[in-house]
Amino acid sequence: MKLLAGKPGWTTQADVVVIGSGVAGLTTVLNLRASGLSVLLVTKALLDEGSTKWAQGGIAAALGPGDTPDQHESDTLIAGVGLCDIDAVKVLVTEGPEAVRKLIARGAVFDTSESGEISLTREGGHHRNRILHAGGDATGAEVSRALLEAIKGDSGIEVIERALAIDALQDADGQVCGVTLHVIGEGTRDGVGQALAKAVVVATGGLGQVYSQTTNPSVSTGDGVALALRAGAEVADVEFIQFHPTVLWRDTAEGGQQPLISEAVRGEGAILLNHKGERFMAKKHELADLAPRDIVAKEIFSQMRQWNIPHVWLDATGIKEFEVRFPTIYASCMANGIDPTKQLIPVAPASHYASGGVLVDLNGRTSVKGLYVCGESACTGAHGANRLASNSLLEGLVFGARIASDIASNLPDQVLPVEDQNEGFLLSPAIKLAIQLSMSEGAGVMRSEESLNETLTTLNQLASRTSTEPRIEAWEVSNLHLLATAIVRGALERKESRGSHWRSDFPETDPLWHKRVVQRYDATGNWSVRFAEVKP
Ligand code: FAD
Ligand code: SIN
Repeated sequence: MKLLAGKPGWTTQADVVVIGSGVAGLTTVLNLRASGLSVLLVTKALLDEGSTKWAQGGIAAALGPGDTPDQHESDTLIAGVGLCDIDAVKVLVTEGPEAVRKLIARGAVFDTSESGEISLTREGGHHRNRILHAGGDATGAEVSRALLEAIKGDSGIEVIERALAIDALQDADGQVCGVTLHVIGEGTRDGVGQALAKAVVVATGGLGQVYSQTTNPSVSTGDGVALALRAGAEVADVEFIQFHPTVLWRDTAEGGQQPLISEAVRGEGAILLNHKGERFMAKKHELADLAPRDIVAKEIFSQMRQWNIPHVWLDATGIKEFEVRFPTIYASCMANGIDPTKQLIPVAPASHYASGGVLVDLNGRTSVKGLYVCGESACTGAHGANRLASNSLLEGLVFGARIASDIASNLPDQVLPVEDQNEGFLLSPAIKLAIQLSMSEGAGVMRSEESLNETLTTLNQLASRTSTEPRIEAWEVSNLHLLATAIVRGALERKESRGSHWRSDFPETDPLWHKRVVQRYDATGNWSVRFAEVKP
């Protein structure tokens, strides 16, 4: 079932449409161009808006002396708690170093030591320093800058900003052959139009805005995952929402994007303390404060519940020249009245990353012909039940290149869309906060059958608040609602605790659940589920 939108008033065409201008979309575009294909790049807001430019800690790759892809693989598998697809992880860690070198060749500048070597730091779950960073804690901004610079001036790339992709166009057999999009533009490119293409790549990033507090920017409403679901693609692992342990806690009810305090701050020596000034991670994991992210988030949550406190503390006062190493974090702390060089930083978990997404193969292909998905929107299986820190930018680099190569060698002929006879549906933008609050309450760090069912009931009730006015906020909220439903349904299915899926009523990890929850949504609005075995 598609979203309600006006009839396309204009048409454009390219070999490939890429939706989204983060690390995944831009890497795909650059590699498609290297094969000579024409590309239409559409992006919902301005080119650099998206999670990529906010990335702090860095990019993980086995580039340091003594490090190997095997060691990176091992840390990735441990963090993923048995649910990683081993082939996807191997691709990520073995092709990662070359992908990073290519990014450097494309102009990205990483921080170096006095001797000129690339500086490597550490984050949760890594057993050695292997994270490249830029501008101290502004890695994403540098990646975004370099990739945007690299696409400039290429007449084979048409860019449309403020262009929200609404739904896939499909032929009679379901093959994707373009997208409908809404453009806030001028002249002939204003309002709803259609872009025809031989292949479509969704690279629309995450869905953090499903929750009331998130590290994700406002554009992260999961539009591409929802578009793919409506086109008939499967999603997997969506119950594994990663909550970042150390998000700046502010004494405010203000929702939306919250300032992140990078794990790299703990990598450089900061420690977590409870309200009594006691360290609590050392007795929980051999890596203590640098345990994998799900373990730290759970322990912070437990401390908050046990002592009835709204946050814990991060002590970064021992880090030398904090303001030089972490200028972005220093500025955001200071803007919130905290001097991290002298004061403890109040932190609490918030939604950060979708470890699952649209189920794809090693070349980014979905179950729907012509539709590829890349980056945070995809479920390659590389992250399993919990993504290892700084593996996301890497995934965009590695799989963006693979997708482009697959498209270039298998480009289908252009087929023509059939008109969808259904009227389409749309929800009222007024329900956004209710979705977010209900998800944070019932499907947050800790869930149970009871809390999830309450949220599902709320979502079902909210589904009756329809709208007949197609506009950006209504399309976004309809997407949020669809994804919230998928997350809750997946979380209800998985009757165990594993990685970032923590069920208070099923607290143990159960070997019987060594499988993926794969969901589909059909043209009549019904959900189906299947379970996919994961290679041991
Ligand atoms: P994004 O960079 O989010 O890009 C998505 C693009 O799609 C945007 O251009 C957006 O405008 C566009 N879009 C969305 N919907 C539509 C639509 N309907 N139509 C058209 N365009 C659309 N990962 C790491 O590996 N290392 C880190 O240090 C790190 N730090 C992070 C810090 C923060 C604060 C956050 C939020 C994330 C961090 N991550 C980090 C995660 C990582 O940044 C993201 O997972 C990654 O950047 C996602 O890249 P992407 O290209 O898939 O999506
Ligand atoms: C961080 O810098 O802590 C975020 C890293 C990530 O999400 O990979």
